[in-house]
Amino acid sequence: MVDYREKLVEKRLRSISQVVMVTGGKGGVGKSLIASTAALLLSRSSNRTGLLDLDLHGPSSCFILGVKEAPVESEEGLVPPVVEGVKVMSIDLLARGKPLPLRGHAKEEVVKEMLALTAYGELDYLLVDLPPGTGDELLTVSRYVRVNGVALVVTTPTQLAVNVARKVVEILSSIPVRIAGIVENMSGGGATSPSRDLAREMGVEFLGSIPYDLALNSLVGKIGGRELLSTNFAESLSYILKKAGFKIT
Ligand SMILES: Nc1ncnc2c1ncn2[C@@H]1O[C@H](COP(=O)(O)OP(=O)(O)OP(=O)(O)O)[C@@H](O)[C@H]1O
Ligand SMILES: [Mg+2]
Repeated sequence: MVDYREKLVEKRLRSISQVVMVTGGKGGVGKSLIASTAALLLSRSSNRTGLLDLDLHGPSSCFILGVKEAPVESEEGLVPPVVEGVKVMSIDLLARGKPLPLRGHAKEEVVKEMLALTAYGELDYLLVDLPPGTGDELLTVSRYVRVNGVALVVTTPTQLAVNVARKVVEILSSIPVRIAGIVENMSGGGATSPSRDLAREMGVEFLGSIPYDLALNSLVGKIGGRELLSTNFAESLSYILKKAGFKIT
Protein backbone atom coordinates (compact mmCIF):
# COMPACT_ATOMS: atom_id res chain seq x y z
CA MET A 1 0.00 0.00 0.00
CA VAL A 2 1.22 3.51 -0.76
CA ASP A 3 2.21 5.47 2.33
CA TYR A 4 1.01 9.01 1.54
CA ARG A 5 2.86 10.36 4.56
CA GLU A 6 6.15 9.85 2.73
CA LYS A 7 5.18 12.44 0.10
CA LEU A 8 3.86 14.79 2.78
CA VAL A 9 7.10 14.57 4.77
CA GLU A 10 9.12 15.27 1.63
CA LYS A 11 6.91 18.25 0.81
CA ARG A 12 7.22 19.68 4.33
CA LEU A 13 10.99 19.23 4.34
CA ARG A 14 11.32 21.02 1.00
CA SER A 15 10.14 24.20 2.81
CA ILE A 16 12.99 23.91 5.32
CA SER A 17 16.42 25.15 4.22
CA GLN A 18 18.42 23.19 6.76
CA VAL A 19 17.63 20.46 9.27
CA VAL A 20 20.15 20.37 12.12
CA MET A 21 20.16 17.10 14.04
CA VAL A 22 21.61 17.46 17.53
CA THR A 23 22.96 14.06 18.39
CA GLY A 24 25.66 12.33 20.42
CA GLY A 25 26.09 8.85 21.68
CA LYS A 26 25.91 9.22 25.42
CA GLY A 27 22.93 10.33 27.50
CA GLY A 28 22.99 13.53 29.50
CA VAL A 29 25.77 15.28 27.57
CA GLY A 30 23.60 18.37 26.89
CA LYS A 31 21.98 17.63 23.52
CA SER A 32 18.59 19.03 24.54
CA LEU A 33 20.00 22.17 26.13
CA ILE A 34 22.14 22.74 23.03
CA ALA A 35 19.26 22.10 20.59
CA SER A 36 16.89 24.43 22.48
CA THR A 37 19.47 27.20 22.98
CA ALA A 38 20.68 26.93 19.37
CA ALA A 39 17.07 27.37 18.20
CA LEU A 40 16.73 30.49 20.37
CA LEU A 41 20.03 31.91 19.08
CA LEU A 42 19.15 31.28 15.43
CA SER A 43 15.71 32.83 15.91
CA ARG A 44 17.25 35.90 17.58
CA SER A 45 19.40 36.32 14.47
CA SER A 46 16.20 36.67 12.41
CA ASN A 47 16.19 33.11 11.07
CA ARG A 48 12.81 31.41 10.74
CA THR A 49 13.43 28.58 13.20
CA GLY A 50 11.70 25.45 14.43
CA LEU A 51 12.56 22.85 17.03
CA LEU A 52 11.48 19.22 16.81
CA ASP A 53 11.98 17.18 19.94
CA LEU A 54 12.31 13.57 18.82
CA ASP A 55 13.32 12.16 22.18
CA LEU A 56 10.19 10.01 22.42
CA HIS A 57 10.97 8.58 25.87
CA GLY A 58 12.67 11.50 27.53
CA PRO A 59 11.42 14.71 25.87
CA SER A 60 13.09 17.75 27.46
CA SER A 61 12.75 20.71 25.09
CA CYS A 62 9.37 21.87 26.38
CA PHE A 63 10.63 21.83 29.95
CA ILE A 64 13.78 23.76 28.98
CA LEU A 65 11.81 26.38 27.02
CA GLY A 66 8.74 26.47 29.29
CA VAL A 67 6.32 25.47 26.49
CA LYS A 68 2.97 24.05 27.57
CA GLU A 69 0.44 24.96 24.86
CA ALA A 70 -0.74 22.13 22.64
CA PRO A 71 -0.31 22.48 18.89
CA VAL A 72 -3.42 23.82 17.15
CA GLU A 73 -5.18 21.71 14.52
CA SER A 74 -5.68 23.47 11.20
CA GLU A 75 -6.17 22.60 7.54
CA GLU A 76 -2.39 22.85 7.11
CA GLY A 77 -1.72 20.34 9.88
CA LEU A 78 -0.69 20.80 13.51
CA VAL A 79 0.48 24.37 14.08
CA PRO A 80 3.18 24.33 16.76
CA PRO A 81 3.31 26.81 19.66
CA VAL A 82 5.93 29.57 19.37
CA VAL A 83 8.44 30.65 22.01
CA GLU A 84 10.82 33.56 21.32
CA GLY A 85 10.08 33.06 17.64
CA VAL A 86 10.84 29.31 17.71
CA LYS A 87 8.10 26.92 16.55
CA VAL A 88 8.27 23.99 18.97
CA MET A 89 6.92 20.47 18.46
CA SER A 90 7.43 17.64 20.91
CA ILE A 91 5.82 14.32 21.71
CA ASP A 92 5.30 15.80 25.17
CA LEU A 93 2.81 18.30 23.69
CA LEU A 94 0.95 15.58 21.79
CA ALA A 95 0.86 13.08 24.66
CA ARG A 96 0.16 15.89 27.18
CA GLY A 97 3.05 14.93 29.42
CA LYS A 98 2.10 11.22 29.63
CA PRO A 99 4.82 8.60 29.06
CA LEU A 100 4.53 6.53 25.88
CA PRO A 101 5.43 2.81 25.86
CA LEU A 102 6.71 2.83 22.28
CA ARG A 103 9.15 0.43 20.71
CA GLY A 104 10.60 -0.58 17.37
CA HIS A 105 8.33 0.03 14.41
CA ALA A 106 5.91 2.16 16.47
CA LYS A 107 8.71 4.66 17.12
CA GLU A 108 9.43 4.94 13.43
CA GLU A 109 5.72 5.55 12.82
CA VAL A 110 5.55 8.30 15.45
CA VAL A 111 8.59 10.07 13.98
CA LYS A 112 7.03 9.89 10.52
CA GLU A 113 3.67 11.18 11.83
CA MET A 114 5.32 14.10 13.59
CA LEU A 115 7.25 15.05 10.44
CA ALA A 116 4.15 14.66 8.29
CA LEU A 117 1.70 16.50 10.54
CA THR A 118 3.66 19.44 11.89
CA ALA A 119 2.95 22.62 9.93
CA TYR A 120 6.22 24.47 10.40
CA GLY A 121 5.77 26.30 7.10
CA GLU A 122 8.85 27.94 5.56
CA LEU A 123 11.88 27.67 7.85
CA ASP A 124 15.56 28.57 7.60
CA TYR A 125 16.48 26.06 10.31
CA LEU A 126 14.80 23.12 11.99
CA LEU A 127 16.71 21.89 15.04
CA VAL A 128 16.04 18.26 15.89
CA ASP A 129 16.70 17.15 19.46
CA LEU A 130 17.53 13.45 19.44
CA PRO A 131 17.78 10.83 22.19
CA PRO A 132 21.18 9.27 22.94
CA GLY A 133 22.50 6.57 20.65
CA THR A 134 21.84 5.44 17.14
CA GLY A 135 18.30 4.09 17.38
CA ASP A 136 15.01 4.46 15.51
CA GLU A 137 14.65 8.21 15.94
CA LEU A 138 18.04 9.09 14.44
CA LEU A 139 17.81 6.49 11.70
CA THR A 140 14.28 7.48 10.68
CA VAL A 141 14.85 11.22 10.56
CA SER A 142 18.21 10.75 8.79
CA ARG A 143 16.45 8.91 5.99
CA TYR A 144 14.40 12.02 5.16
CA VAL A 145 17.04 14.70 5.50
CA ARG A 146 19.87 13.43 3.33
CA VAL A 147 19.72 16.52 1.13
CA ASN A 148 19.27 19.34 3.63
CA GLY A 149 20.40 17.75 6.89
CA VAL A 150 23.51 18.21 8.99
CA ALA A 151 24.43 16.77 12.37
CA LEU A 152 26.00 18.38 15.41
CA VAL A 153 27.63 15.66 17.50
CA VAL A 154 27.67 16.57 21.19
CA THR A 155 30.09 14.97 23.59
CA THR A 156 31.85 15.72 26.87
CA PRO A 157 35.57 15.62 27.68
CA THR A 158 35.35 12.05 28.93
CA GLN A 159 36.56 8.91 27.20
CA LEU A 160 33.21 7.25 27.98
CA ALA A 161 31.20 9.84 26.03
CA VAL A 162 33.77 10.01 23.24
CA ASN A 163 33.74 6.23 22.71
CA VAL A 164 30.01 6.32 22.04
CA ALA A 165 30.20 9.54 19.97
CA ARG A 166 32.67 7.73 17.67
CA LYS A 167 29.95 5.17 16.89
CA VAL A 168 27.47 7.95 16.08
CA VAL A 169 30.00 9.57 13.72
CA GLU A 170 30.52 6.20 12.01
CA ILE A 171 26.79 5.60 11.58
CA LEU A 172 26.16 9.15 10.30
CA SER A 173 29.03 8.82 7.82
CA SER A 174 27.65 5.54 6.52
CA ILE A 175 24.09 6.86 5.89
CA PRO A 176 25.53 9.41 4.84
CA VAL A 177 24.56 12.53 6.81
CA ARG A 178 26.88 15.53 6.67
CA ILE A 179 28.48 16.21 10.05
CA ALA A 180 28.81 19.93 10.83
CA GLY A 181 31.20 19.10 13.64
CA ILE A 182 31.81 17.95 17.18
CA VAL A 183 30.79 20.11 20.14
CA GLU A 184 32.37 19.47 23.50
CA ASN A 185 30.02 20.32 26.36
CA MET A 186 30.71 20.52 30.11
CA SER A 187 34.33 21.27 29.36
CA GLY A 188 36.87 21.79 32.13
CA GLY A 189 38.91 24.13 29.94
CA GLY A 190 41.98 21.96 29.25
CA ALA A 191 43.96 22.49 26.04
CA THR A 192 43.72 18.85 25.10
CA SER A 193 40.66 16.64 25.32
CA PRO A 194 39.44 13.29 24.00
CA SER A 195 36.75 15.15 22.01
CA ARG A 196 39.40 17.05 20.03
CA ASP A 197 41.28 13.80 19.48
CA LEU A 198 38.08 12.17 18.20
CA ALA A 199 37.50 15.02 15.74
CA ARG A 200 41.06 14.67 14.42
CA GLU A 201 40.82 10.89 14.24
CA MET A 202 37.50 10.95 12.34
CA GLY A 203 38.36 13.90 10.08
CA VAL A 204 35.47 15.95 11.49
CA GLU A 205 35.68 19.61 12.49
CA PHE A 206 36.06 20.37 16.20
CA LEU A 207 33.68 23.29 16.69
CA GLY A 208 34.58 24.26 20.24
CA SER A 209 33.90 23.73 23.92
CA ILE A 210 31.18 24.91 26.27
CA PRO A 211 32.34 25.20 29.91
CA TYR A 212 30.55 23.38 32.71
CA ASP A 213 28.42 25.93 34.52
CA LEU A 214 27.11 24.78 37.88
CA ALA A 215 24.76 27.76 38.25
CA LEU A 216 23.15 27.13 34.86
CA ASN A 217 22.23 23.57 35.75
CA SER A 218 20.00 24.65 38.62
CA LEU A 219 18.36 27.36 36.46
CA VAL A 220 17.28 25.11 33.59
CA GLY A 221 13.51 24.74 33.67
CA LYS A 222 13.10 27.78 35.93
CA ILE A 223 14.15 30.42 33.42
CA GLY A 224 12.50 31.25 30.10
CA GLY A 225 14.01 31.46 26.64
CA ARG A 226 15.04 35.10 26.97
CA GLU A 227 17.04 34.48 30.16
CA LEU A 228 18.59 31.36 28.63
CA LEU A 229 19.86 33.56 25.80
CA SER A 230 21.79 35.75 28.23
CA THR A 231 23.75 32.89 29.85
CA ASN A 232 27.45 32.14 29.27
CA PHE A 233 26.27 28.81 27.88
CA ALA A 234 24.39 30.62 25.10
CA GLU A 235 27.39 32.88 24.42
CA SER A 236 29.74 29.90 24.01
CA LEU A 237 27.23 28.12 21.82
CA SER A 238 26.81 31.18 19.65
CA TYR A 239 30.57 31.07 18.73
CA ILE A 240 30.25 27.37 17.97
CA LEU A 241 27.26 27.90 15.67
CA LYS A 242 29.11 30.69 13.84
CA LYS A 243 32.10 28.43 13.38
CA ALA A 244 29.79 25.76 11.97
CA GLY A 245 28.62 28.30 9.38
CA PHE A 246 25.13 28.95 10.74
CA LYS A 247 23.68 32.44 10.22
CA ILE A 248 24.32 34.02 13.62
CA THR A 249 24.69 37.81 13.76
N1 LIG B 1 27.46 23.25 30.11
C1 LIG B 1 26.67 22.81 31.09
N2 LIG B 1 26.91 23.16 32.37
C2 LIG B 1 26.12 22.71 33.37
N3 LIG B 1 25.07 21.91 33.20
C3 LIG B 1 24.79 21.52 31.96
C4 LIG B 1 25.57 21.94 30.84
N4 LIG B 1 25.03 21.38 29.72
C5 LIG B 1 23.98 20.65 30.12
N5 LIG B 1 23.82 20.73 31.46
C6 LIG B 1 22.85 20.04 32.30
O1 LIG B 1 23.03 18.64 32.12
C7 LIG B 1 21.79 17.95 32.18
C8 LIG B 1 21.63 17.12 30.91
O2 LIG B 1 21.43 18.01 29.83
P1 LIG B 1 20.47 17.61 28.63
O3 LIG B 1 19.17 17.13 29.13
O4 LIG B 1 20.48 18.74 27.67
O5 LIG B 1 21.32 16.37 28.06
P2 LIG B 1 20.88 15.36 26.93
O6 LIG B 1 22.13 14.95 26.22
O7 LIG B 1 19.80 15.94 26.11
O8 LIG B 1 20.31 14.16 27.79
P3 LIG B 1 19.49 12.88 27.21
O9 LIG B 1 20.55 11.99 26.63
O10 LIG B 1 18.84 12.30 28.41
O11 LIG B 1 18.54 13.39 26.18
C9 LIG B 1 20.72 19.02 32.37
O12 LIG B 1 20.37 19.10 33.71
C10 LIG B 1 21.40 20.29 31.89
O13 LIG B 1 20.88 21.42 32.53
MG1 LIG C 1 17.90 15.18 25.65
